[in-house]
Amino acid sequence: MACKVISFINMKGGVGKTTLTKELGYHLSHVLDNKVLLIDVDPQMNLTQSLFQAFGYAPSQDIAQRVQMEELSDQEEGSRTKRSITVSSVSIASIFSGTITSPATPENSILKLDDNLSIVPGQLGIDFSLRNLNSTTLENGIYEFIKKHHLREQFDFIFIDCPPTYSSYTTAALKASDAYLIPAKPEAYSILGIDMLLKVVDSVQIENGPYFEPERLKNIGIILTDMRGNSSVGEKSLTEDLRKSKLIVNSNVYFFNTQFAHNEYIKTQIDYLIDRSNADKTSKPNLANLAQEFLGRIDDLWNNN
Ligand SMILES: Nc1ncnc2c1ncn2[C@@H]1O[C@H](COP(=O)(O)OP(=O)(O)O)[C@@H](O)[C@H]1O
Ligand SMILES: [Mg+2]
Repeated sequence: MACKVISFINMKGGVGKTTLTKELGYHLSHVLDNKVLLIDVDPQMNLTQSLFQAFGYAPSQDIAQRVQMEELSDQEEGSRTKRSITVSSVSIASIFSGTITSPATPENSILKLDDNLSIVPGQLGIDFSLRNLNSTTLENGIYEFIKKHHLREQFDFIFIDCPPTYSSYTTAALKASDAYLIPAKPEAYSILGIDMLLKVVDSVQIENGPYFEPERLKNIGIILTDMRGNSSVGEKSLTEDLRKSKLIVNSNVYFFNTQFAHNEYIKTQIDYLIDRSNADKTSKPNLANLAQEFLGRIDDLWNNN
């Protein structure tokens, strides 16, 4: 199967974009043996913080120290291939602000967490769109990086965790993507966020025509997240309102049958990963079902046209 680049996107914050990117990415890579690259585009870098903790990297500044230490011990064992990496040098910053003289490379952008899972870490608080950058460099950054370094040949899935705002980052993520997936919570204003998102996706495609030819972005669908199930009456009626809303029905957006279940550990432990935990009996099968439905959608969308 050819690599799929997918943006996890919603104009609302706190709807489970980051959590779903991480859990689905981890499941596809560790349980289903795919090669997965996660790209953290959100300046809040929650995805990076969570996975760094989960894989034994200290949060933010100490990232590179660990990388350096590993490389030193490699060298001690006789491998002389690697050079040391400094703190801010492995991150999305290289991709967004790369220049002809210091371009983004896999070495300064991608951190391999293990054989199957890699990440382009975020950069806390750096808003590249506010720095005197040529906005085309920023908006084409991820697209060009994937192309130049043949990442589609190295990964089965590339997931992009988007920020909740509409900015050059969103454009950068969508321009690089084949498809997008919408995590959402059944809340009173969900529909507004989704409405805005569909409009943004349309306008980005209109403004950047050639990037979306011959194929336009595919909409994988809406996944409801953090769902408590039957116990919540409000949740149920809001879900029905959303599913039957004019917007969803008229725009023919797919609604996942599987909903991403609420799990208290996700909220309380930053390094939590469902497939690593032995504690819960609900989330693991739930995530496996979600992954199967996701793969089914991929099959449907790519084979049926
Ligand atoms: N399935 C879940 N169970 C419990 N808490 C969740 C679940 N999914 C997300 N959350 C929590 O909801 C909050 C928002 O999730 P997050 O993935 O960061 O959203 P976003 O990236 O859209 O802003 C976080 O505190 C996260 O831990
Ligand atoms: Mg997020």
